[in-house]
Amino acid sequence: MPRTTRSGDEAEVPTLGAVDHLRVLTRVLLGPVVKGPIVRRPTAVGLAERLDTDAAGVAEMQRLRSRYGTGPVQLRIPGRRIALLLDPADVHRVLNDSPTPFSPATLEKRGALNHFEPAGALVSTPQQRLSRRPFNEQVLETPRPVHSHATAMTKVITEEVSALLGHVDFTGTLDWEAFAVMWGRLVRRIVLGASARDDDQVTDDLRRLRQRGNFSYLMPQNRRLRERFLRRLQHYIELAEPGSLAALVAQTPAPDEAVPHQQVPQWLFAFDAEAWATFRALSLLTNHPGAVETARSEMAHAPDLPFLRATVLESLRLWPTTPLILRDSTAATHWRNGTLPPGTALVIYAPFFHRDDENLPQAHRFSPELWSQDREDSDWPLVPFSAGPGMCPGRNVVLLTSSLVLGELLRQHDFTAQEPLDTSQLSGTLSPFSSHFTVRHD
Ligand code: HEM
Repeated sequence: MPRTTRSGDEAEVPTLGAVDHLRVLTRVLLGPVVKGPIVRRPTAVGLAERLDTDAAGVAEMQRLRSRYGTGPVQLRIPGRRIALLLDPADVHRVLNDSPTPFSPATLEKRGALNHFEPAGALVSTPQQRLSRRPFNEQVLETPRPVHSHATAMTKVITEEVSALLGHVDFTGTLDWEAFAVMWGRLVRRIVLGASARDDDQVTDDLRRLRQRGNFSYLMPQNRRLRERFLRRLQHYIELAEPGSLAALVAQTPAPDEAVPHQQVPQWLFAFDAEAWATFRALSLLTNHPGAVETARSEMAHAPDLPFLRATVLESLRLWPTTPLILRDSTAATHWRNGTLPPGTALVIYAPFFHRDDENLPQAHRFSPELWSQDREDSDWPLVPFSAGPGMCPGRNVVLLTSSLVLGELLRQHDFTAQEPLDTSQLSGTLSPFSSHFTVRHD
């Protein structure tokens, strides 16, 4: 029952006391900001791993729930009202009721993404979303587990992983730097086309814009750089090289308001998260008894790779690459413990739900079976790709390409992690940037 004030008005959702405010700011919200919300800072991620900041964040959220109950709780920082969600039903509600009254185009996201994609779907008004979201879904073929470009994507992946393995055979090791070079080429070929393979400039331009995005509104926009970057994307769309997503962009009918070339930066940018998830998944597979054999045995059925897909999902559950899922309310909203005014930022801290060992027995162990069936709203929220109308439209492209990369890596090579992981008790934070493998050709 919502609380009421003496005048009969519904009371507001409880606000945290001063000490709890400070604890939440430092233990829950600061980590993702310092690590870099738009482009990661490897040194900060390494430090977060040493301190296991994500485990501290989850423990803090559990403490809040036992102290305040399962209704949302409010924080107030100058100029911003923030509500943290503590209950699974509230998570499903907020994600399902998007974009109104819970808009994905939050103040902070607009500040960050406007540096490189001011017309991207994620930062659009509900009216603009009506054309931009379907455009993304059409090109990325959101509902299809296997994209119609899977053959072309498989060819790119086989070639680029093979080139990486040539280097690995020579050095006997695989580290993040080599993996990231391979990944950059692979992504440019899949998204922009074959001639973009060695266009490091386009990736560097985006990285520079994303670095500005890490500071959101606090950093002025570099319009000239943004224009150069977006013109380069338009160039690849006009080339429309066969098998690329750029070719699909060129072919897909779009109303003016869809601004097709401005949907592409989000794809290039989001493929980074897939790189981290894939490298972490490699750590899981190579440390878990029997996992490599299971992965190899399904490679005969590629691209149908359910175990590898579930492993990637597990990597994302254990170490979510979007730890803060944000929505801004566009109207007053009512909760079991009170109301929230319009303009409140609603925060879903994904690690809390993914690693809540008070509710999820598998919280800290590698458990691919969690993903053997589609998940429903009545299930515990595991939301690495968000959910509802704002769910990542690239989810299936991610699972397809990431599982193929892992399969190709493991086909004929044995990887041994230089720092072993205990897959029955995994830490809350894992930096992909410091993972290192010793590799032997079978
Ligand atoms: C591991 C990789 C990825 C993860 C974990 C991921 C996760 C997410 C999440 C959580 C959101 C919602 C963000 C929000 O509500 O603020 C999102 C949105 C989006 N993602 Fe992904 N993503 C990944 C890769 C990709 C890739 C590779 C593409 C395209 C090829 C893509 C395309 C998009 C687009 C276009 C949106 C905006 C959707 C909208 O506003 O309706 N993502 N993603």
